[in-house]
Amino acid sequence: MSEPFSQPIDAATRYCAVFGHPVKHSASPAMQNAGIAGLGLNWRYLALEVHPDELRRAIDGAKAMKFIGLNLTVPHKLLAVDMVDVLDESAQVWGAVNTVRFEGRDDRGEWRPLDQFEIVPGETRSQGFNTDADAITHSLREDLELETRGAKVLLLGAGGAGRVAALKLAADGVAELWLVNRTKEKAEAVAAEIRQRHSGTSVNVGYPKADIDLVLNATSLGLKNDDASPLDEKEFSLRGARVVYDMIYRSDETPLLKSATAAGCRTANGLGMLLYQGATALELWSDRPAPIEIMRRALEKNVYGH
Ligand code: ATR
Repeated sequence: MSEPFSQPIDAATRYCAVFGHPVKHSASPAMQNAGIAGLGLNWRYLALEVHPDELRRAIDGAKAMKFIGLNLTVPHKLLAVDMVDVLDESAQVWGAVNTVRFEGRDDRGEWRPLDQFEIVPGETRSQGFNTDADAITHSLREDLELETRGAKVLLLGAGGAGRVAALKLAADGVAELWLVNRTKEKAEAVAAEIRQRHSGTSVNVGYPKADIDLVLNATSLGLKNDDASPLDEKEFSLRGARVVYDMIYRSDETPLLKSATAAGCRTANGLGMLLYQGATALELWSDRPAPIEIMRRALEKNVYGH
């Protein structure tokens, strides 16, 4: 299939953007502009460097300029919770905003995405969403055919991404969860939160002693070429895991995924998570199904160059 055709920029072109600090390595513009062109929309998606001290002004500025929507990346996701006009339930549950949709009030008093107005409405607002958490289970299902309900999972990492992954897995009905983190206290704090919010999941801090379904890496180990594996294979052998997912997507194969492949596990990296969080954002802005395969190809080309 040929590359989607982009309309030239004109006075009717509308804008979306990702705000980050730093933002210059973001793969979102490549993925989203391909998706936008695939839908035939006269929009463009920009990557804008925004310092956290200026995040509020930047969100308000985008609203004033009638942007369609925003994505927020490091370090803005928690800060933005207090900077949007309303929070969708997803942002309330996960305590973080990675997607903002600008909306206008129609004649009947209902709020609708800005794209749906012929004439820009007088009254507009920003609504914050979180599309990251659902993207975890979506990617596990699509890329590894793993259903999280009833599964036994070893989760590595209890930072920002690890905490959301742990809570999402518990909310999905994972049967048993083992949490391992360099700083054990953080794993214990996440375990306590799960015991309080999701009593149906049995949660332990430490490595499992028997076979499990999934090992999920949510640490940042693997981002750099010379990083070690986040898994201590003296504590747990990958031969005891069915599938291994590494949230890191910058390298084709991290040390963890190399060992997992050698041990006969099915594997996937975090590119799918990035894809599904972005696809859901585009759907929230456009109210149309995202062209997933077009977005996936653009993302792979941007990240791996092929
Ligand atoms: P993110 O938002 O991407 O989750 P983060 O909150 O800084 O970023 O979390 C990074 C995760 O990688 C944490 O689990 C961190 O472990 P600590 O909680 O002990 O800091 C883990 N991590 C980072 N560098 C590591 C290293 N060299 N060895 C082991 N774990 C590491």
